[in-house]
Amino acid sequence: ALVQRANDLLAAMTLEEKAGQISQYFYFRGLTAQNELVEAQVRAGQVGSLLFVADPRETNRLQRIAVEESRLGIPLLFGFDVIHGLRTIFPVPLGMAASWDPQLYERVQAIAAREARAVGIHWTFAPMVDIARDPRWGRIVEGAGEDPYLGAQMAAAQVRGFQGEAIGAPEHVVAGPKHYVGYGAALGGRDYDEVNISESELRNVYLPPFAAAVAAGAGNVMTSYVGIDGVPGAADRYLLTDVLRGELGFKGFVVSDAAAVMDLVTHGFARDAQDAAVRALRAGLDMEMWLGMRFVPGTNPIPTVGAFSTLAEAVRSGVIEESLLDEAVRRVLLVKLRLGLFEQPYVNEGAAGAILNDPAHREMARIAAERAAVLLRNEGNILPLDRSAVRQVAVIGPLADDRAATLGPWVFAPDLNATVTVLEGLRRTAGEGVRVEYAPGVPMPTRAIPSPFASLSQALGMPASSETSFDEEAEFARAVALARASDVAVLVLGEAADMNGEAASRSTLDLPGRQLELLEAVAATGTPVVVVLLSGRPLDLRRVLPCSAAILVAWHPGSEGGNAVARLLWGDATPGGKLPFSWPRSVGQVPIIYSRLNSHQPATSHQRYWEEESTPLYPFGFGLTYGQVEYRNLTLSATQIGLEDTIEATVEVHNTSAREVEEVAQLYLHQRYGRAARPVRELKGFERVTLKPGERRTLRFAIPPSARRYWSKADSAYVLDESDFDVWVGGDSTAALHAEFSVRSSTV
Ligand code: IFM
Repeated sequence: ALVQRANDLLAAMTLEEKAGQISQYFYFRGLTAQNELVEAQVRAGQVGSLLFVADPRETNRLQRIAVEESRLGIPLLFGFDVIHGLRTIFPVPLGMAASWDPQLYERVQAIAAREARAVGIHWTFAPMVDIARDPRWGRIVEGAGEDPYLGAQMAAAQVRGFQGEAIGAPEHVVAGPKHYVGYGAALGGRDYDEVNISESELRNVYLPPFAAAVAAGAGNVMTSYVGIDGVPGAADRYLLTDVLRGELGFKGFVVSDAAAVMDLVTHGFARDAQDAAVRALRAGLDMEMWLGMRFVPGTNPIPTVGAFSTLAEAVRSGVIEESLLDEAVRRVLLVKLRLGLFEQPYVNEGAAGAILNDPAHREMARIAAERAAVLLRNEGNILPLDRSAVRQVAVIGPLADDRAATLGPWVFAPDLNATVTVLEGLRRTAGEGVRVEYAPGVPMPTRAIPSPFASLSQALGMPASSETSFDEEAEFARAVALARASDVAVLVLGEAADMNGEAASRSTLDLPGRQLELLEAVAATGTPVVVVLLSGRPLDLRRVLPCSAAILVAWHPGSEGGNAVARLLWGDATPGGKLPFSWPRSVGQVPIIYSRLNSHQPATSHQRYWEEESTPLYPFGFGLTYGQVEYRNLTLSATQIGLEDTIEATVEVHNTSAREVEEVAQLYLHQRYGRAARPVRELKGFERVTLKPGERRTLRFAIPPSARRYWSKADSAYVLDESDFDVWVGGDSTAALHAEFSVRSSTV
């Protein structure tokens, strides 16, 4: 019936209305000339979707223009980057991945969806499911890290959270996994730069999270700016039509990244805007995301319509068949029909406030930040801090009271004043008789090379770290003196919010500015040091380690970040997050992954460099807890199985300490030989558990054939090999507890 309604609408639409229906425009607060153009386009029925409006009065006002003033009254679809929350901000996605808790992630994104829907947003450009193996790339912060299996679990959980049972579920939004595909492999970690990956790597590493998101029912997919083999993502017919629709069975609509259709000309791929639009549509792109303006350096942006506006003429002149245009329009109309927008295009403005300020959302933000944190070091069990032994805590560092850094990148509508920094969190929770004193010590440096988005971020009202201006030497000395006079120094160090995210790559992994100098001076006082890292990527910790008794990675923890960190430091909560990437020793090791291939001299694989170990500083999957865990008795349900059989692993996990622990049990698999050499080990199962003091639990992991299936170059197909396999289970990717089994095509 919905298809029939879409077809009826199609029959009534002009070519211009059809081209408009698959055009999406930015609507920027404060950009009057561009807004006038966009509103005129909406009135003319030549816009299908808008992005970047997060105020219910504004979504309703613009919707009224579409519904009441355009000829056919087709409602607008409102999209937005709801990446880690709208009003209530959760930890950045890399941090959420470090929770290794897909159920939690599903609940978190359901809350993000609820807040988004309350203001009239129907669709989020999330989850970002790009595998990222180069932490210089600023967008590593937006995904689940280096691993396709963890990435796939997190991708599916987020789609379920955003969308609910099905598209159209109340209080949910359409999910748009992005950026299809391979964006994370940009050379040198430089955002938007060239990508060179083989078909095998594409399919074995970069594609699985997309496959999982599609299998979970994602209604949308966004293409990547970059291209593989010289074909930009927005116009790659093989990837968009053959693989995404043909192989993965995607049924929704595909949107380009912002300006990526016009970019086909910039890439040197398309001749002009019409050529770009036609080739993108032919490839399988359904909607163009367009800024509504052209940027010309040195002048104000010039309001302009997008490349898809040329499609009406392209049909008229016979360059493209109308049926192709209809197909894309139908997909967009269908999502509007499924969402029920024709029946209820408006949002209840009066109800939004209560939803945005629901205390249950804040509670979940705190739990998520606690579960995301990763404890890297805890010498002498300095953590949790002993309230009865600590009279004064020195909180030091430029990020300790920085709300924007507490939230991280990709936040547009937070309640900044309600963001709890680490300083505030420690003050609130210190308890009677414990003084919490603060000194920033050093300022955060500003970007050396100006952001290409500086003016845009300002126009969008993105929170920026507040400028600190003080007498640097005096402030440095005050911080050191404060540390000397305190029982413990908590140094909150890391990256400002704008150091990661889009167009925010770095060429080093150093602690920016004079933070390291400050840390070393504080450590020289002899006061024990606890480092809390706020960041969206791993940083170079070689000189941090000798200065700190404990290191807690809190990521950019979100609205409740300070409360969560404080509870972890005092022991009111227990850290249990694990790294979703291999933590490099230095930037020179990048990229470094645990699932590497063996080659010549594997026994010396840690000796590849002249001046440092070739192993990471901390392995993938690593994270401590307050307590001790042991793994025992790994057994398999068989010693030999058939190609299509599932085998089950059973293992005991034992809390051998007197404290409750949080642990993520991880199962790794290795195929010893086959049609292609396979990684030394690959994650194929995990479970996060809470164990009471002394508790022992038996965990089971199924290893289905899909865990052994991979893309073979020799066959240009997915294959299952007869081979011998190793299994390890433990608390990180160096797990030693081992078992083995064989796979033969016929088992007797
Ligand atoms: O959704 C984003 C995308 O990830 C990067 N370019 C801009 C889009 C819209 O904000």
